[in-house]
Amino acid sequence: MNITSFALFGAKPTFDKPLPIGQLYFPSSERYEAKFRGIFERQYYNNNGPLHEELEEKLQQFLGVKHAICVSNATLGLMMLADAMELTGKVILPAFTFAASAHSVTWAGLEPVFCDINLDTHQIDINAIDALIDKDVSAIMGVNLWGGACNPKALAEVAAARGVKLYFDSAHAFGCTVDGTSIGNFGCAEVFSFHATKILSATEGGCICTNDDDLAVRLRSIRPSYSLDHPVSIVRVANARMSEAQAAIALMSLEDFPENQKNNETLYHLYAGKLNAISGLRLIRPAGVSFSNYQYLVCQVDEREFGLSRDMLIDILKAENVIARRYFYPGLHRCLPYAQELPQYLDSLPNTDSLCSSCIQLPIGALVSAQSVEHICDIIARTHQYAAEIRSRHEK
Ligand SMILES: Cc1ncc(COP(=O)(O)O)c(C=O)c1O
Repeated sequence: MNITSFALFGAKPTFDKPLPIGQLYFPSSERYEAKFRGIFERQYYNNNGPLHEELEEKLQQFLGVKHAICVSNATLGLMMLADAMELTGKVILPAFTFAASAHSVTWAGLEPVFCDINLDTHQIDINAIDALIDKDVSAIMGVNLWGGACNPKALAEVAAARGVKLYFDSAHAFGCTVDGTSIGNFGCAEVFSFHATKILSATEGGCICTNDDDLAVRLRSIRPSYSLDHPVSIVRVANARMSEAQAAIALMSLEDFPENQKNNETLYHLYAGKLNAISGLRLIRPAGVSFSNYQYLVCQVDEREFGLSRDMLIDILKAENVIARRYFYPGLHRCLPYAQELPQYLDSLPNTDSLCSSCIQLPIGALVSAQSVEHICDIIARTHQYAAEIRSRHEK
């Protein structure tokens, strides 16, 4: 065997079709049809329909939270929450996250304050937060990444000591627990994403969870874009309603959560057994949780030890039809509008920058078989073995 066995250098790709990193959960067409027949029979398609109500009820039970308020996506949920919590001035959050975390803050007329992350856990660096709090900061947004948690109990202590509010972007963390308590119960509120790539999918959707009755009333008043019977004082309304079609899929996805979680966990351990034997690769364990959904498979590539850069490895994998991604790249402090409007962060987040250049995501989820994982790990092991040759051929 030599480097001509790689698709990048002319061989047939390992996979016939592209294998994306995302979960792409979808119920069988039989279940889908049966559930949708009910929607057509009832002719109730939207506005707190019976499936929507059932979903909220079941989510509350599953998470052990008082209020689960379903929305059309997590981005709108985060935007609504900033208003409902009456935040002012600035909000601290990591720059190593999806753009929506920061955009929700700017949509609410607030300024993001970017905090660096911990290189081991990839979560916000708790020790860096205190120095960022000034009189204009009204809240901290923790982001629970990769089916892990950003230490919500320690964050609550920092927030309480400094008199700021705390809430969470938990888009990645549905079904995870911290010391046995479900994520969804921490801070003032937490927001889950039910996007098609998430372990709980409504194709598009999300949910705001809170144990605060007043906040729940405010959120339910903001959500529908029309007046409720008992109006409460809110800044503005949105249309963030979840349709019956979305709720139907989310209900089936919730039913399948145990099976999908188990499948992810098995794949994670399969990857771990193979990848940890390759020098220069570090598989990230979901941090700080007692139970994880294992929704993401994330590695760090040490270019010197592995022999090739993260980006070269991605090129090799993509040629084999493994759609690995450098997620998140670049850090939000280097994206518009923040790079222009908040240039003070360009040189102040060394861990975020280092991670953005070394982090790689590999496929995991309902569509990924154990055999696919074996093949992917084999490609990566061969890439490491032939790293010097690949580099010199690629540089020509
Ligand atoms: C960390 C994080 N926050 C927020 C979102 C936004 O979720 P949605 O697509 O449901 O708006 C995502 C989406 O992937 C995400 O990864």
